[in-house]
Amino acid sequence: MCWIFWYSWSKDAISILVHWLERLEYRWYDSAWIYVNNWKDKTFRARSVWKVSELATKLQSMKDRTYIKGIAHTRWATHGWVTEENTHPHQSNNGKRSIVHNWIIENYSKLKKELIWNWFTFSSETDTEVIVNLLEKHFNWDMLETAQSVQKIIRWAYAVLIVNSEFPDEMIWIRLWSPLIYASSKQWEHFFSSDAQALAWYADNMVYLEDWDVIHIVNDEYNIYANWEVTKRNIEDFDQEALEASKWDYKHFMLKEIYEQPNTIKRTMKWRVNFDAMSLHSETFHGMGNEDYNKIVTVACGTMNHVGWLGTYRLQNLAKISAYSEIWSEYENKPFFINPQSLHIFLSQSGETADTLETLKMVKEQWGKTLGIVNVVWSSIARETDDWMYVRAGTEIGVASTKAFVTPSVLMLLLSLFLWKRRWMRLSKYQQIMRELQHLPSYIETVLDQSDHIRSIAMDLLWYKDFFFLWRWYQYPIAAENSLKFKEITYLHSEAYAAGELKHWSLALIDENFPTIFNLPHDEMYEQNLSNLQEIKARKWKICVIWDRRVEDADWQITIPETIDEIYPFLTAVAGQLLAYHVADLLWNDIDKPRNLAKSVTVK
Ligand code: M6R
Repeated sequence: MCWIFWYSWSKDAISILVHWLERLEYRWYDSAWIYVNNWKDKTFRARSVWKVSELATKLQSMKDRTYIKGIAHTRWATHGWVTEENTHPHQSNNGKRSIVHNWIIENYSKLKKELIWNWFTFSSETDTEVIVNLLEKHFNWDMLETAQSVQKIIRWAYAVLIVNSEFPDEMIWIRLWSPLIYASSKQWEHFFSSDAQALAWYADNMVYLEDWDVIHIVNDEYNIYANWEVTKRNIEDFDQEALEASKWDYKHFMLKEIYEQPNTIKRTMKWRVNFDAMSLHSETFHGMGNEDYNKIVTVACGTMNHVGWLGTYRLQNLAKISAYSEIWSEYENKPFFINPQSLHIFLSQSGETADTLETLKMVKEQWGKTLGIVNVVWSSIARETDDWMYVRAGTEIGVASTKAFVTPSVLMLLLSLFLWKRRWMRLSKYQQIMRELQHLPSYIETVLDQSDHIRSIAMDLLWYKDFFFLWRWYQYPIAAENSLKFKEITYLHSEAYAAGELKHWSLALIDENFPTIFNLPHDEMYEQNLSNLQEIKARKWKICVIWDRRVEDADWQITIPETIDEIYPFLTAVAGQLLAYHVADLLWNDIDKPRNLAKSVTVK
């Protein structure tokens, strides 16, 4: 995706900017560049239409380290292919104005036609070049006013840096929907960044800029304008530890994140659950308000949609609320049927997923009540929703979500218990769930202890090309998630279907070359699942079971601790993560950066 950083001053800007680019490299991009100035306004520019490491190698041999200001940017191609011409910064036709831009301009094609009609020419295929030529067309010798008038013409979303060679001491940033922070350090350094994480241990405090903000900088003095007036925004301390990301001794970030889950679950529950009193702290669920909800819709993409899906099962089953999950791309085309007792929950690890954010804005336009469940603090979804809850999973680097699947799933269970409690739940069942929740971190540790055993299963499985993931009820979203994770990093074909459908059509597909991974804990669905297991075994097809008790023979078995229906999904999910990880590792895949995928999808 696209990331912008700006640094000033007085350390070696090249090393700092490259370090930030490296920190966010896992989020995927297809070109990167930096542009730096020194004291005497000597400039230097370098770019790579591939890896940051290529750019870093080019810069390593540079002897001159007097550059103290600069910009770095990664581009993820949306308009126009990955070429030098399409790489930022883009310049206006007269060469005097230059810009760097994140996100996309939706009305660019209409604007481009109008500009061509006015004799402007274009040297790239990007939407960005439209903005810079609009700045030239509307230029009135006041950079601030010009930027504000162009802001009214372009249709979102963007974070744009504007410079003008006629005003070398000035710089303008404009933003709408695309995240942008201003930060500073105790050593008088100034930073702009589209992401806070890159700045960990550099900045000491930060200001999160809001939609429509225009920032005017003259010689490192900055003013924020909202509605054409100078305004103040909150200055927040930088939470360095929450934002730092390191792989420690693990081979991959994904593996480290899988192993972090017992601790992250404890963190998610801390301050929300009092296990001694067996109670939930109602102030941490302030986002749920006092409404008696009659309908809850979760909206998310990818793995987060599976969190929502599992969560709605809990809300239906425990809290007895009509609940369903939607992937944004389908939901945005449907009527929302909002009523005063309905709630929309937006789930996102990054809190920046453009698709989820767009649906959120549509729900808000219709006055729907919204709650955000996000992992990244200060993210756009947290800021846009009426209320929010932080998952507290810590930074997740691996593109394949693991701890950011399990921890919000725990939070959704706590929410369901909270709503259930207010609706006169069955005390004995509630207490049983609370007791087992307390043991959840140690149950997960037991699953993690089987990593070597799961790797030995992976050694057999990697020779197959197709896989089936089967489930029923609470295990339904889990098998879908396990299958997603499996194909995301192994690049092997897998499908996830309800066990009940087996006889109706899926038996036609399976044969001895098509192993089935079956989530088969001793839950309410066990007996029904067992007959499906026998149907598969009777045909001598290959089967790998994830269960808590051995009852039958299977080709491969992963044993999870015995617990209750509400807790099993977390354990089968972790077993599935390890299985996907080991198969992908044995296939030598780039696990933390699976091909063609980005960690946070900030364009539609
Ligand atoms: O940042 P988000 O949670 O909103 O991202 C949504 C999906 O892109 C994400 O869950 C994706 O499916 C996972 N990386 C898959 O492991």
